[in-house]
Order: sequence, then structure tokens, then C-alpha cells
Amino acid sequence: MQKKDDRVLVYGGIRLSLPLLLAPMAGLTHSALRRLVQEQGGVGLLSTEMLAAKRLPHENPTLSPYLVRHHSEQPLSYQLLLFRLEEAAAAVATAEELGAAAIDLNLGCPAPDIRRQGGGSRLMEEPELVGRLVREVRRRTALPLSAKIRLGEELNAPRLRDLCCLLEDSGLDLLTVHARLRGEPYGRKPRWEWVGKVKQWLSIPVVANGGIFSSADAAACLAISGADGLMIGRGAAVRPWLFRQLAEGLANNFSQVSAGPDRAEKAAIFLRFCALLEESFTPERRLGRLKEFTHYYARNYQFGHYLAAAVQSSPDLFTARQRAEQFLATA
Ligand SMILES: Cc1cc2nc3c(=O)[nH]c(=O)nc-3n(C[C@H](O)[C@H](O)[C@H](O)COP(=O)(O)O)c2cc1C
Repeated sequence: MQKKDDRVLVYGGIRLSLPLLLAPMAGLTHSALRRLVQEQGGVGLLSTEMLAAKRLPHENPTLSPYLVRHHSEQPLSYQLLLFRLEEAAAAVATAEELGAAAIDLNLGCPAPDIRRQGGGSRLMEEPELVGRLVREVRRRTALPLSAKIRLGEELNAPRLRDLCCLLEDSGLDLLTVHARLRGEPYGRKPRWEWVGKVKQWLSIPVVANGGIFSSADAAACLAISGADGLMIGRGAAVRPWLFRQLAEGLANNFSQVSAGPDRAEKAAIFLRFCALLEESFTPERRLGRLKEFTHYYARNYQFGHYLAAAVQSSPDLFTARQRAEQFLATA
């Protein structure tokens, strides 16, 4: 049974205490960022990075940087990059064994190499295959099942409606809509009103995604889209405390939102992320992930490009942290 109130999102039998979801992001939503975000509070559902269905069953979950996970990361949705019917069963079984709280299907990735293989947003152009994939996954698992889409190749309401209805009819429990067309860059203003259209077409919960970096963005997105929940991507790497602020906003209709962390707290959060990288990953896996995170976190500082450059040019995590500490002490 799906139920909606302002602070709870229920779909496919899972009850999220807050309708605030971490977006799947390759290179970013690994164990360290998920833990950082969860420690800051306010997140309702965590997500893995996209996981190739073909490889998932063959990965070692204690060694694979995509699968390592701390027991505190709950609830955690596993996003599958699935486009071959015959790969569904083993991928779903593995996700279940690994303790997935939910499964999400990636139908929106615009990366050319993924599309060339037939995955991500390419699937939105293959409704018949998408229907079969969703039905196959549905048949294989009782876990809550969601998918994440973009708006398509061009604005075409009947076409988008047909696809969304097909997804719902095929057994999906929730749909997340990244409110941009396939070819639109992240800098473009998201089309939240199109999430509102999708919401009207479907009876399953619809989550809005794209361009939410602040409480004001969240309030505007909810007002425009009427979505049942919000999914935050880059905003979680810029402000790992954003979910906490959004949770407060949901509680008081965004009339009042507490200030973010002060300078010292921001520095501590950055260093906590470094510590979590050390806990989660072998040395050769740490620096790249710190660079990716710092690219976003540096936006908190007027001269953040110095922080990003200091990390970018470091040979290892130890050096990067030392340089970052120097920056953070004066920023
Ligand atoms: C670095 C990066 C990696 C991403 N990887 C994925 C992914 O693995 N799966 C997916 O469905 N979307 C992925 N996305 C898209 C995000 O989930 C999200 O839809 C997009 O960033 C818009 O939301 P935002 O404005 O809150 O960041 C990625 C985005 C970024 C920036």
C-alpha cells in the first residue's frame, strides 16, 4: 500500500522515515560519502553508485570499492545498470544477498559509452525491452523496485506518459524523474513542472531530482512538482548536511531552516570524509575519490578552487589532507 504524508514515504513495503533520497552517483555515492551524509542526518534512503548487472555477481563484496559497505548504511538501495534480460536474475539475487533494502534501475544515464551498449537513457527509447526488464526484475524479487529516468530525447508528453505508465504497469513501486532531457547539461535549469506531469499520470510515488542545493530549491521543487519525495545528487557532496536542513524544512513547511555548519565544523566534515575514505578503501582507491568529492565540497569556500587544486595535484591522500588542512585553517 502506498501512503503519503509530508514526512514519510512508503513504497513497495519499505517505509522511509523521510522522503529524502540520496541520488546514485558514480564515483561519489560510495561507502564514505554515504556514511558522511548519514552521520549528518536527515536522509531517508541511501543509494549505491550504478552497478553493472553483468559484473555484480562476480565482484568480491569485501574488496570491490563499489560494494564495500558499513553496517550503519541503512536503508541502502542498489542501482542496477541492467539492459540484458538474462543478466537480471543473478544481479537481483546478488543485490538481495548483499542486503539491498530496495532495487533501482538506471534508465537515465546519458553517458555515450553506456548508451552505445544499450543501457541507461538508451532504454527509454526501447519501451518494449524496458517493460520486459522491469517485469523480469519484478518476478525475481519482492524488494521495493524503482527506476530513475530523464525526461527523454525531447519534450513529448504523450511519449513520456506512455513510458511512465508502462513502467508502473510492469511492476515498478516508485519512479524518480531527473527533470532534464537526455542531452541537457547539469547547468540547465531543471524542468520540475514536468515531474508534476508525471506525478499526475501515475499512482505510484514520484520523486523529483535535479538542481536541489538548498532549502529554497527544495521548497520550490515541491511546490512546482507536487512530488512525493526529493532526490539529491551533487548537493549532497557540496553540503553533506543538506538532508538535515531539508528534513527540518519539511517539518515546518520551510518557514525556518537552521544555519549550516560554521567554518570549523565544515573543516571537520572534510576531514571526517578523509577518515572515512581511509576506513573504507585501500590506499590506491582513496585519492581519486577525495578529488571527486573535493570538486564539489570546494564550492563552500570563496577561494575553493585553491582547495580543489591542492587536492588535485597531490600524490596521495596523506599529502592531500595536509594541504587541505592548511587551506581550511585560513579559509
Ligand atoms: C558524478 C555523477 C555521477 C552520476 N552517476 C549516476 C549514476 O550512477 N546513476 C544515475 O542514475 N545517475 C547518476 N548521476 C545523475 C544523478 O543521480 C542526478 O540525477 C543528477 O546529478 C541530477 O541531480 P542533482 O542536480 O541533485 O545533482 C550522476 C551524476 C553525477 C554528477
